[in-house]
Amino acid sequence: MTVIALVGTQWGDEGKGKITDVLAARADMVVRYQGGNNAGHTVVVGDQTYKLHLIPSGIISPGTTCIIGNGVVVDPKVLCTEIESLHAAGVSTANLYVSERAQVIMPYHRALDKLEEDHRLLRIGTTARGIGPAYVDKYMRIGIRMIDLTCPERFERLLDQALAFKNPLLQKVYGHPGFSREEILEEYLEYGRVLAPMITDTSLLVDAAREKGLNILLEGAQGTLLDIDHGTYPFVTSSNPTAGGAAPGAGIGPTQIDQVIGVVKAYTTRVGEGPFPTELKDATGDLIRERGREYGTTTGRPRRCGWFDAVMVRYAVRVNGLTGLAVTLLDVLDELDELKVCVAYEYRGERLHHLPSDLEILKECTPVYATLAGWKEPISAAREYGALPEGTRAYLEFIAEQVGCPIQIVSVGPRRDQTIFLDPVIK
Ligand code: IMP
Repeated sequence: MTVIALVGTQWGDEGKGKITDVLAARADMVVRYQGGNNAGHTVVVGDQTYKLHLIPSGIISPGTTCIIGNGVVVDPKVLCTEIESLHAAGVSTANLYVSERAQVIMPYHRALDKLEEDHRLLRIGTTARGIGPAYVDKYMRIGIRMIDLTCPERFERLLDQALAFKNPLLQKVYGHPGFSREEILEEYLEYGRVLAPMITDTSLLVDAAREKGLNILLEGAQGTLLDIDHGTYPFVTSSNPTAGGAAPGAGIGPTQIDQVIGVVKAYTTRVGEGPFPTELKDATGDLIRERGREYGTTTGRPRRCGWFDAVMVRYAVRVNGLTGLAVTLLDVLDELDELKVCVAYEYRGERLHHLPSDLEILKECTPVYATLAGWKEPISAAREYGALPEGTRAYLEFIAEQVGCPIQIVSVGPRRDQTIFLDPVIK
């Protein structure tokens, strides 16, 4: 039995969907522990491509129980649409459960997300899915939880309370007409009726699986640098994607997590605003974007691309307590003559080996690069470590040494079989 937390080590989009899918084939249960439909996971199985935002990618593996944990903010409309599209593709959702404690994203959250973004001095580049405003209500203690959708009277009362806060804000600050209880009530109670069979105390399900000695994967969305505490604040999301968020978001204790695996791209990408020291605004950046199909799954926005930043991943190793790495999208680098890895930052003549908290300092940091030779051959057909070109292995060994964490998995293409296990992870 093992309980694994799987986290993103960069700015999200590290390929967690694929790694979850590959590990889910060996796991019995997958639990999403934070975020919402701001995330986008692409999973390729055979000829089928699945794009999931809310439902854990483990749903594609028959027999794997999938849980949307209490730490997630759930847009029930998106959840119902995702369930329908999975059914249309012949995928069963019989093993899908949603925590009754998970917070619900309401129409006023989506409206406020857009309006607040336009009002900010520094735009964050939010996905405008209502995630941040839903977490605000959670902490303001006026949020509506999934269990409330199944109790019409309570839902009505909570909706009235929320609207008493939201409508004046929408109308007086933002000039928005506001929302009437009637336009929300019927729609959301219908979601409650449809989703009721899967809304439950998921913490008990996770505990029962643990008691039985099953393998459990706790799936984080976004990445370390988007963490509300440890990320590049304020250009962050509103939850804790780091491993520390996995226990409270899934409803277990921190001592019950055995391994923490960090998913890391062989280069770096970022969507939205904020400093990015190794960003490439040249033909190499464009090549990486095209080869890596670096366009947002949720918003379609082109992602900013750059070299591997070992300072950042070293930080992720530390704040997540990583026990291993899964390196993804390595094949994207196949055509490059040389590869650069940022090993430190230079700030006003000083060498920095740690990520600064102050974004004004980070903005001024220039990367100190080590240059390695490219391997210049396709690697997507490799199925074991020894079959990778020497240059590829040298690159992997260099980044593992730089960040201070062993590599357990290497992904050389989007398909399930394009995965090399250096360590079985789940035995
Ligand atoms: P929000 O989570 O929609 O509030 O967006 C806050 C920041 O996190 C923005 O810069 C988004 O682009 C970024 N973000 C949110 N979710 C993801 C994700 O799944 N991948 C990459 N970036 C994300």
